[in-house]
Amino acid sequence: MNQRALIQALPKAELHVHIEGTFEPELMFAIAQRNQIEIPYKSIEEVKQAYNFHNLQSFLDIYYAGANVLIHEQDFYDLAWAYFKKCAEDHVVHTEMFFDPQTHTDRGVPFGIVINGLQRACNDAQAQFGISSHLIMCFLRHLSEEAAFETLEQALPYKDQIIAVGLDSSEVGHPPSKFERVFAKAREAGFLVVAHAGEEGPAEYVWEALDLLKVNRIDHGVRSEEDPVLMQRLIAEKMPLTVCPLSNLKLKVVDDMQQHNIHRLLQQGVHVTVNSDDPSYFGGYMNDNFYAIAEALDLSNDELKQLAINSFEASFISEQQKQAWSERIHAL
Ligand code: ADE
Ligand code: ZN
Repeated sequence: MNQRALIQALPKAELHVHIEGTFEPELMFAIAQRNQIEIPYKSIEEVKQAYNFHNLQSFLDIYYAGANVLIHEQDFYDLAWAYFKKCAEDHVVHTEMFFDPQTHTDRGVPFGIVINGLQRACNDAQAQFGISSHLIMCFLRHLSEEAAFETLEQALPYKDQIIAVGLDSSEVGHPPSKFERVFAKAREAGFLVVAHAGEEGPAEYVWEALDLLKVNRIDHGVRSEEDPVLMQRLIAEKMPLTVCPLSNLKLKVVDDMQQHNIHRLLQQGVHVTVNSDDPSYFGGYMNDNFYAIAEALDLSNDELKQLAINSFEASFISEQQKQAWSERIHAL
């Protein structure tokens, strides 16, 4: 089988995707119009031209502005449903999607509106496409610890619909230690925990995520390679890193794809997975990320299969389901 056909055929799990980052310009315009909200672009072309980022913050400014048009439950449904259609095309059979409640509650949109819209899309995706999913709510790390505690409180009535809490937004200057107490409370309440660390921030932030937040996975984590002792720890603990190649390229974490370290990390035995992060902004969904690294880094078919197996192994599905997907992949 040629590599593109193999990538398409592989069942995959996506563990690092921000649902607000799947907002395609066409849908953004449609929702802005029906909600009668002004957006600072005259055309889809103009929106796409604005997606020219030089670092994480320059992206986040545009990403939060786009999310402002989401108001009603149906808006959140439409957003997630559009993403599930992409999953179906790319043979993503399981997804654990992030949402940023504070981006919406701070504008007066109730927590329940957000989660009900997303959940309804998750239910329909299971029924129509057979795609399973979990929701992960992220705290915005540029906001205060107190605001994160309030958000955790608002989530408690919906605890059964949220598998984990995460940590995203502007990394540098907002280390995991800032949220140590909130994460302890979230773990006590029964949430699993993940955190963005080592994207723009240093390897030290990955140590903090492990030791202070006690995470089940690290999101990004590519800068871990700068610290050999940390690398040994990640390998020994089989700690997943949810890597996002096209995101790293667009946000200039790497200068070109040939310099991306995902292949080296895989060869050294780190449990890396492939993910799209904010696919509408970074130029591609799951399979585009696979195509980009397969070509630039000359990955073998066995390595591509290993990456797909890793995605299920690192997910929050049952051991029995992990086993079943792994067997399906080996049989390809
Ligand atoms: N929010 C959405 N995408 C993000 C990323 N790549 N890093 C941090 N916060 C984010
Ligand atoms: Zn992310």
